[in-house]
Amino acid sequence: MKKYSARYPLDLPAWASLKAHARDLKPLATSKLFAQDKKRAERFSMRVADLLLDVSRQRIKPRTLQLLTQLAKQADVVGARDRMIAGQAINSTEGRAVLHMALRGNSRDAFSVDGVLVSSEVRRVRRDMLRFVDAVHDGAIVGATGQPFSDVINIGIGGSDLGIVMATRALAHVATGLNVHTVSNVDGTQLADLMAALDPARTLVVVCSKTFTTLETMTNANAARAWIKSRLGEGAVRAHFAAASTNHPAMDAFDINPDRRFGFWDWVGGRYSLWSAVGLSIALGIGSDQFKQLLAGARKMDQHFATAPVQENAPMLLALLGIWNSNFLGATSQAILPYDNRLDRFPAYLQQLQMESSGKRVRHDGRAVRADTGRVIWGEAGSNAQHSFYQLLHQGTDIIPADFILPVRSSGATQHAQDLAIANCLAQADALMQGFSESQARKDLLARGLSNRQAAALAQHKVHEGNRPSTVIMMRALTALALGQLIALYEHKVFVEGIVWGINSFDQWGVELGKKLAKSLEPAVADPRQAHDANASTQRLLQQAKRWRKP
Ligand code: F6P
Repeated sequence: MKKYSARYPLDLPAWASLKAHARDLKPLATSKLFAQDKKRAERFSMRVADLLLDVSRQRIKPRTLQLLTQLAKQADVVGARDRMIAGQAINSTEGRAVLHMALRGNSRDAFSVDGVLVSSEVRRVRRDMLRFVDAVHDGAIVGATGQPFSDVINIGIGGSDLGIVMATRALAHVATGLNVHTVSNVDGTQLADLMAALDPARTLVVVCSKTFTTLETMTNANAARAWIKSRLGEGAVRAHFAAASTNHPAMDAFDINPDRRFGFWDWVGGRYSLWSAVGLSIALGIGSDQFKQLLAGARKMDQHFATAPVQENAPMLLALLGIWNSNFLGATSQAILPYDNRLDRFPAYLQQLQMESSGKRVRHDGRAVRADTGRVIWGEAGSNAQHSFYQLLHQGTDIIPADFILPVRSSGATQHAQDLAIANCLAQADALMQGFSESQARKDLLARGLSNRQAAALAQHKVHEGNRPSTVIMMRALTALALGQLIALYEHKVFVEGIVWGINSFDQWGVELGKKLAKSLEPAVADPRQAHDANASTQRLLQQAKRWRKP
């Protein structure tokens, strides 16, 4: 069974053509391409489901897309996509299928793993989970004292946290359910603050962990259990806890009520899991109808991804442009800039999705990849970001491609406020591309009454080189349906990039070493003598920490 392409990306014929093409394009100003081609905006825009993707500010010509399409074909992106959809074990280092698409399937879909149908089991768990959600909302399921739940604390980390934080914040304006709070970090402060503020009698705790062994999650879950026990009595734990996990023995050991545990499967990767039982807290927050809309949105993007030809396929296009910018134009990072504050955690969500998936140095066969892979993903909601790091985007020495994400309708304030956000977003995209030349700067300064000498001295500082690539992803409104499409768009983008690079986008061995070392250092924090194997710096820092630990 073929799981991955045996060819290095560098050996694909289109790679060399793209290298040469990039050299030709480097001196070209994208803004001039607009002047030369009146149809450029139309040519490089695409409607997909409820999203409008405009890549016309990227440093590309029609020939660029032809070559990138060839690259995708030579890397057999379509074949790899079909193998993923067919439930083959494309996660080669863990021997697992990758079927998050099955999680948002509906009754018309039939996904299988190893020839065994999984779609009906997916739908059964979803039905049970949403019944539970509805019962909590209706007050049919209440806490140990008989009071209805008003708040949820989701305890999880990484893929068992980021999607929940991101989606509940993004969809707060359509939420009909409980207040969702999240606890992830090991230091315990998030939980401490919540325990001080919330009424335990009205709080439901969801322990969300694929493995149910993650240090941070289990530490916080045990602390939350102690809180519920101390405030409501031993018997209250079963009434106040629910869980999402694949580890049933561990849920037994924690004493999670069998009616309140929701399972998923090893073919669901942590960072692709919000569509599964991991989404329990999302559904508790936004309501089961909105949760279904989120899934329906993702499914719409799946259908597009599964059927559209390479050159018309939005996730493939985004992936190929990502490769173009980093492997051919030398970008080392990528900014994600949503113009709706409700999407403020979307960059953090994409950080895990992209960097845990693509931060790889070897291919499936263990040989070095010989091309740059995952770039740094970062970002912040605009227009806040304009007043912090945009300076570097406009005038820094690195070229940082940006994805602007732009809902048109206000998601809660006045439309006038969102109109300002739209104007700012498009102005920034244009400023990055058009730039501001020295002669424009000089003219501007002279017009403001500066002398020739003063204008000459200041003009260079005002120059914006321009030609900095960006993509605008616009949507009518930030709905659950549109958010589902947006997330799935990026999921498939990450997949396609991984196929071209020949890496496994679905494992995360790079997070293990640090976890192992932390375990061995844990006893040494109180007793540094136990760190005799540690290096001199760690030993000294532990000695000092011991002195400073004392109140
Ligand atoms: O440490 C990384 C990681 O394994 C992520 O991939 C995952 O999303 C997270 O930890 C949480 O894992 P779990 O859901 O098993 O607690």
